[in-house]
Amino acid sequence: MWPRNRSKFIVFRPTRDFLAMAAVVGIVWIHGIALSAQSGNGGLKLDTGQEIYMAGCVSCHGPDGKGQPQTLAGFERPSTFPDFTDCPGATPEPDVQWRAVITEGGPGRGFSQIMPSFKDMLTQEQIGKVIEYLRSLCPVKAWPRGNLNLPLAMITEKAYPENEVVITGSYNAHGAPGGTTSVIYEKRIGVSSMIGAIVPYSFKQDSNGNHAAFGDIALEFKRKMFASLKTGSIFSLGGDISIPTGNSTIGTGGLSTLFETFAAYGQLLPRDSFLQLQTGVELPVHPDKVPRAYFMRTAIGKTFSTEGGLGRRWSPMLEIIADRDLVTGAKTNVDLAPELQIPLSRRMHILGAIGYRIPVNNTGARPRQLMFYLLWDFPDGGLTQGWR
Ligand code: HEC
Repeated sequence: MWPRNRSKFIVFRPTRDFLAMAAVVGIVWIHGIALSAQSGNGGLKLDTGQEIYMAGCVSCHGPDGKGQPQTLAGFERPSTFPDFTDCPGATPEPDVQWRAVITEGGPGRGFSQIMPSFKDMLTQEQIGKVIEYLRSLCPVKAWPRGNLNLPLAMITEKAYPENEVVITGSYNAHGAPGGTTSVIYEKRIGVSSMIGAIVPYSFKQDSNGNHAAFGDIALEFKRKMFASLKTGSIFSLGGDISIPTGNSTIGTGGLSTLFETFAAYGQLLPRDSFLQLQTGVELPVHPDKVPRAYFMRTAIGKTFSTEGGLGRRWSPMLEIIADRDLVTGAKTNVDLAPELQIPLSRRMHILGAIGYRIPVNNTGARPRQLMFYLLWDFPDGGLTQGWR
């Protein structure tokens, strides 16, 4: 979740990098003096976020937060250099990500070492104030803040509109081998909306041998209706349309076009816990072939982080999934899914998760499944960036 213009990789040029580093060391040194002079007796005060910004950040990030012109800054901008006035790039970042970068410096999150560490110059309270100041630079307040972007659960759709690529899989843990791997692409559009595409591919083994085929390809749309940092809540409405591209003879779909509409709700809870809810209906065009269905999904979890809250983040969750075909005599299927979201890259833009889906009732035709996903938050950097 970074400002645009990040397609270029950082190219290593020994002499230029050396000059840049020398310039940066100079700037940081001057900043150290400026900050300590100002926080010392008789100097200027560093009470407000703006005062801290003007003293410690302006020489690189510029008076307006867009970045000092290249000629004044004295370093070559990394492709991920932030423009704090650019709402699409700046708002998806959660505060903790910025706090980690400001406290530990760029390398704390796999970014350039040109961004210095302010651990010894600013208190955590001052860092909080300067983050609030950076937040004030995005003029359109309707952009939902990244703090409301809760960890992705495996089955329950999140309310926050995302930019990401996710590869998910679920495979039978017993009985006949079988499973589905899906590729999901989601892209923000504008302040509140997101579009996505889902391409599933399934395989299974039965008495006739091995089969594999694409499932029903789906297009999705989601729109944030309400988001509030104050209450820690976000609410969205969305819908999917899936097209019968699957293979009906081997059972990967292909029976009916299907519309799904849903509501998704996310709530921050005390001590880094959270709750996510999604409820909706599936409305096939041919209900004689695919029954109409209702579903209710819940994910509850808590995030644990290393390095006093600023390091890598791990999120165990438990999902409770209920769905019911809307035909007479149908029972509600209930599943439990314990799972763990795992940080992979240092930048936290590539994450993994593993989980286990356990049907609680009607277990005859519904095997337990092993699940995983790999998630790439592509605006935060390329697949090879941000690991060290
Ligand atoms: C010596 C120059 C320099 C100074 C001084 C500096 N920064 Fe940075 N900052 C950078 C660079 C360069 C990057 C981009 C790093 C990258 O993308 O690899 C950066 C990145 C950041 C980011 C990451 C943005 C994101 O989207 O995650 C934040 C936040 C930040 N700086 C805040 C600050 C604050 C606050 C101060 C002052 C207290 C400050 N910086 C001082 C050079 C500087």
